[in-house]
Amino acid sequence: MTNRRPSSARWLEEHRNDPYVAAARREGYRSRAAFKLLELDASVAARNRGKGLLCPGNVVAELGAAPGGWTQVAVQRVGERGRVVAVDLLPMDPIPGAQIFCGDFLDDGLLNELHTWLGPNGRADVILSDMAPNMTGMKIADQGRGAMLAEAAFEFAESVLRPGGHLVVKLFHGPEFHLMVRMARTRFEGVKVEKPPASRDRSAEHYLIALGFRGS
Ligand SMILES: C[S@@+](CC[C@H](N)C(=O)[O-])C[C@H]1O[C@@H](n2cnc3c(N)ncnc32)[C@H](O)[C@@H]1O
Repeated sequence: MTNRRPSSARWLEEHRNDPYVAAARREGYRSRAAFKLLELDASVAARNRGKGLLCPGNVVAELGAAPGGWTQVAVQRVGERGRVVAVDLLPMDPIPGAQIFCGDFLDDGLLNELHTWLGPNGRADVILSDMAPNMTGMKIADQGRGAMLAEAAFEFAESVLRPGGHLVVKLFHGPEFHLMVRMARTRFEGVKVEKPPASRDRSAEHYLIALGFRGS
């Protein structure tokens, strides 16, 4: 007899049958989330004459990175000339080619570490945020915390992106959703919201892809 709750049993079943989980294992990615970034990158490349989000030599700051699927993709894409910094509340095993900071992105101390890593007048080419709050099941509170993380990522992007740089940020549907999209349209040349195929249907997550920062 099992006393596992039905939702966790459903999750295990879904996990076992998930082709992205199998592909992540096969291809050596730490999470199935890696495919979300690969799909977003491919979608940008498809409408941008083959040029995706991440290019060799890029400086990339990634927020909400554990366990590190996106970080692995970013490191592969930027190559040896590029630099990647990854931040998460949770500890992460090292990824060669990435600097990892463990801490709360909303803390000033961690923000200072990021600015120091970028260097004086340092600029990033791409900001990626897959940050998600721990879901409590209380819709309004979850939406509010998700929006706060997205707004913090947006503000950080405005302070460190080079003109022409790109931002990808996870958004959840809620009152702030359209506001964020409208704000992004005033700051970037091209803005799109996508739900990549690897994002589960039952997840309310979407990704704002903002290309070509107009400069602060
Ligand atoms: C969906 S997971 C990221 C998955 C990751 N992109 C990957 O490819 O493996 C979301 C992450 O956001 C992190 N997170 C949430 N709030 C955060 C905060 N305030 N500061 C840093 N990380 C945060 C969580 O700890 C969690 O690991």
